[in-house]
Amino acid sequence: MATMKAIRLAQPFDITCVTTEIPHPRENEALIKIGAAGICGSDIGAFRGTNSLIRYPRLIGHELAGKVVALGPGDTHGIKVGDRVVVDPYRYCGACYPCSIGRTNCCEHLQVLGVHVDGGMAEYFAHPTNLLVRIPDELSYVQAAMAEPLTISLHGIHRGRLQAGEYCAVIGAGPIGLVAGLVAQGYKAHAILIDIVQERLDFARRLGIEHVVNSTKEDPSEAIRAITGGTMAQQVLECSGANVAIRNTLDYASNAGRIVLTGWPKRETSLPTDMITKKELDICGARTSAGEFQEALELIRTKQVDMTRILTETVDLDQAPRIIQDIERRPDKYMKVVILVDESLS
Ligand SMILES: NC(=O)c1ccc[n+]([C@@H]2O[C@H](COP(=O)([O-])OP(=O)(O)OC[C@H]3O[C@@H](n4cnc5c(N)ncnc54)[C@H](O)[C@@H]3O)[C@@H](O)[C@H]2O)c1
Ligand SMILES: [Zn+2]
Ligand SMILES: [Zn+2]
Repeated sequence: MATMKAIRLAQPFDITCVTTEIPHPRENEALIKIGAAGICGSDIGAFRGTNSLIRYPRLIGHELAGKVVALGPGDTHGIKVGDRVVVDPYRYCGACYPCSIGRTNCCEHLQVLGVHVDGGMAEYFAHPTNLLVRIPDELSYVQAAMAEPLTISLHGIHRGRLQAGEYCAVIGAGPIGLVAGLVAQGYKAHAILIDIVQERLDFARRLGIEHVVNSTKEDPSEAIRAITGGTMAQQVLECSGANVAIRNTLDYASNAGRIVLTGWPKRETSLPTDMITKKELDICGARTSAGEFQEALELIRTKQVDMTRILTETVDLDQAPRIIQDIERRPDKYMKVVILVDESLS
């Protein structure tokens, strides 16, 4: 039996690097030697046990880039042994109503790696060939692994149909919100990033975000009014998951504006819906991403969104349990951590 190392949660707060069997690629699947695997907020949620969808034990990890080393029988979708690929980690059925209209991220039977099925924070991983996207030659596996969080931000921007010249208020300067601000600016819109932690806003300024607002120090509505010359933001993207922030999106949006909810709140939010009618707001959710990896890789390649600048550190696979424990304890110390699984993989 050929074995590999993998990061496994036996139950919440019980994480180890285990030795397990290398998976076999099944029909329409490829076996990938993993080069790099990102640690996501949702991996920390799995570690904490706050995601009710997860069954334990579970191998975690869904931000994966590597090299195809074998193909299973069936449809290869043009993928060949030796291809450098990134994993689109949302497995969909292809037959339900949302899948039939191309909204595969809303599949009724969606299976997310590390949540519903085992993930790939491991030396090898098998995945459907139609969910593999080739990596441009210039990108490292570490850069490519960071395409996944970028697709989340990108999907939020797409859902709000952001146009050049508009103002986009983004709440939450964590990886998702900060990158959304960079995407907005890549789209030639003006980003206004709002957070309650000054260090995160200072970091965002250093990365070139045009406007930052600390909502503990000034009234964001007034700040946005001043920045937009009274119009308010044509798009508001909620990336904090805080109930109060969700409520405030209604104040930050312009008349006829669009609000996109990407953050996952833990509790219900009550909203004054008269404001939605009065301003004629479009409010929508944004969940994961659908067919957006190609554009994400292109944004990284052209450095319109330089993901390496949000990289806090890289560690090897053996160090993953320790760093996940530390991120859980001190989240403000970290922006993005990527596990360099195989440093020598070309
Ligand atoms: N929709 C999806 O598919 C999807 C995917 C990934 C993450 N998410 C969600 O997106 C959110 C952001 O993810 P992240 O990894 O960047 O998280 P994060 O925790 O690193 O960042 C959240 C940021 O929000 C800030 N914040 C908290 N309360 C605030 C408030 N009242 N006003 C302004 N800012 C506030 C925090 O200081 C922090 O900087 C989370 O809710 C996460 O669950 C959604
Ligand atoms: Zn992720
Ligand atoms: Zn489906």
